[in-house]
Amino acid sequence: MNNLDYIVSEARSAFAAISDPDALEQAKARFLGKNGQITELLKQLGKLPPEEKKTAGAAINVAKASIEMALNERREAIRQVALAARLAEEALDVTLPGRGEVCGGLHPVTRTLERIEALFRSIGFEVADGPEIEEDFFNFTAMNTPEDHPARSMHDTFYLQNQDGTVADTVLLRTHTSPIQARYMKAHVERYAQLEKMPEIRIIAPGRVYRVDSDATHSPMFNQVEGLWVGEGVSFADLKGVIADFLRSFFETDDLVVRFRPSFFPFTEPSAEIDVAFMSGALKGRWLEIAGCGMVHPDVLRIAGIDPEKYTGFAFGFGQDRLTMLRYGVNDLRLFFEGDLRFLRQFA
Ligand code: PHE
Repeated sequence: MNNLDYIVSEARSAFAAISDPDALEQAKARFLGKNGQITELLKQLGKLPPEEKKTAGAAINVAKASIEMALNERREAIRQVALAARLAEEALDVTLPGRGEVCGGLHPVTRTLERIEALFRSIGFEVADGPEIEEDFFNFTAMNTPEDHPARSMHDTFYLQNQDGTVADTVLLRTHTSPIQARYMKAHVERYAQLEKMPEIRIIAPGRVYRVDSDATHSPMFNQVEGLWVGEGVSFADLKGVIADFLRSFFETDDLVVRFRPSFFPFTEPSAEIDVAFMSGALKGRWLEIAGCGMVHPDVLRIAGIDPEKYTGFAFGFGQDRLTMLRYGVNDLRLFFEGDLRFLRQFA
């Protein structure tokens, strides 16, 4: 029966050398299959004399059980290895840092607008709005701009086309946010027509404007913030105070001077350009033009239905992009409109 021990140990080492489940089942056949070694021995039992049959049979069955046990152990071992490999492969390392959210950031020009709105709201201004495709009437006529004014020319203004290709010269891309003044005043007058005394108008009106113009400091599309304060006894002194105060808050410094340089706009009288100069920093000592302003022209008030003998007002129009350039030290306006993330990320 040494032969049996040999077969068992042969089976054990054969199984041990196998790590593939299919190969293991094939190896099993060599010992326990139809023509397997153990099966063959069992077949031969019949030839043995009866007295040997019983012991021989028992011994073969013990060997068979050992091989079956070895087989099962190996099956289980192979299964465990496969499971471990799968677990390793699908492992989730919960201690790794998260990938994080990809957050967008506000565009610097938008940040500027938020600051402007917050500062003006804090002194009682409302934020008003108007259309970018504007009527010639509001953009020019209501703003007291004569028919032959150069701003109305094709060189300066984007007029729209009719469907038949002809120029629709009564509709245009607004060249400034000032038409919102006219729209707002008209609506305000209508809204409070019943009242003996018109409530004050105090608005800012931000928006995109369009001009035929393009270089490092001019873009065919740019942003303005219009301001308008109309009431009884509103004066140029109020204009100066509001603007100077706003600029100090906006730039977060008292180290600046504001200059009102006489200018001309058809819709204000007197008119001025607002220049600012910083007393320290990179831009120290240079005068920079940031807005146009003035006292609302009596004719503009009249066109809107407001009595210029009773009410006065001032208006201003800030270059929102200019303010942004100054605040962040950017020297080419076009960078704001190119959408280059390498540039924009700096402000997020
Ligand atoms: N609308 C003028 C411009 O675009 C600016 C301005 C606004 C001037 C309000 C005076 C008053 O240049």
